[in-house]
Amino acid sequence: MEVQTSKKEVIFYWGAATSAHQVEGNARNDWSDFEREHHLMPSGLASDHYHRFRDDFEIAKNLGHNAHRFSIEWSRVEPREGEFDELEIQHYRDVVAALRERGLEPFVTLWHWTVPLWFRDQGGWTNGRAPAQFARFAARIAEALPDVRFWITLNEPNVYTAHGYLRGNWPPGKRMALGQYWRANRMLAAAHKKAYALIKQKNKNAEVGITQNVIWFSRRGNFLKDFFFNHYFVRLVRGTQDFVGVNYYFSDRKTKQYSDMGWPIDPEGFYQLLRAMARYQKPLYIFENGIADAKDDRRAEFIHGHIAAMQRAMHEGYDVRGYFYWSLLDNFEWDKGFGPRFGLVEVNYETQERHIRKSAWEFKRIIEGALRT
Ligand code: BGC
Repeated sequence: MEVQTSKKEVIFYWGAATSAHQVEGNARNDWSDFEREHHLMPSGLASDHYHRFRDDFEIAKNLGHNAHRFSIEWSRVEPREGEFDELEIQHYRDVVAALRERGLEPFVTLWHWTVPLWFRDQGGWTNGRAPAQFARFAARIAEALPDVRFWITLNEPNVYTAHGYLRGNWPPGKRMALGQYWRANRMLAAAHKKAYALIKQKNKNAEVGITQNVIWFSRRGNFLKDFFFNHYFVRLVRGTQDFVGVNYYFSDRKTKQYSDMGWPIDPEGFYQLLRAMARYQKPLYIFENGIADAKDDRRAEFIHGHIAAMQRAMHEGYDVRGYFYWSLLDNFEWDKGFGPRFGLVEVNYETQERHIRKSAWEFKRIIEGALRT
């Protein structure tokens, strides 16, 4: 495997990530319908970030971040097929401007799992028109946000298709629908490729890629799991990515400590996966790494351990260019509702008050130390 040397002049991006459905509130998309139909906890107002983004970014700035990852809610900007809502597009222009004013580099995700109702009704990601429909949306947003440099077309297609078409516990709620599972994977890959070309056509400086959820399978016997979960989709879009995004949470090992989700805390797995993802010979960005920890008694150590693992890989020459903690705020954790607390910032869902957790200041100290050197 070829190891790339990190270039000294490249800025390292430090920040946190969110996704529209999980923080904005008042969604009207396939997920909000699914919540109702399956009697899940409704996402409702979520963290009301749609109205509070400026205050939230002010917090991110005070926490020493120099970048922020967020997603555009497709159902807001294209509520009916081919009809774009200019006010909603303006909303995201305001979001980008608010980040820039605070010195935060925007990293924009175009699809973080939710889709408009009209798209769902036509068959969602198994519809043959899906790639062109997604690419049209992507191009419209790239045109509207010309100063955004970093574009993540798809968030964790591997997790989405596994839940949506195999386990059936997320939209579109299909169980063991193998044919549709493979088809959705192919459509998502085609959608990425089309969007990649169009975004780069609109913006010569754009850097475009996907972000993949990775799990460290520590045993050699698990190479098939490793291949299909960690690598299959990244390989499908090979040749059309300027970077590889890595979202890491856990491994398959038994460890001393677990998160509130019951996930083993294993920084060694993070190090191993960074090495493994270097095979694509592209810069790596950590777009998610985080822990559900309501008491905030493991988060600081989690962040320390994982950043140390990342820095170990970087010292060995692996080209990692950014680290985004998941998440800036407590938010709506899909079928688990508001129970899990991933935020650097605690949200009181009764009052929408924000409270900065101790571990967030610890993260700030790490960032300051790293930016000084
Ligand atoms: C997803 C997030 C989610 C997080 C924690 C990631 O796989 O991209 O939306 O909240 O994991 O489960």
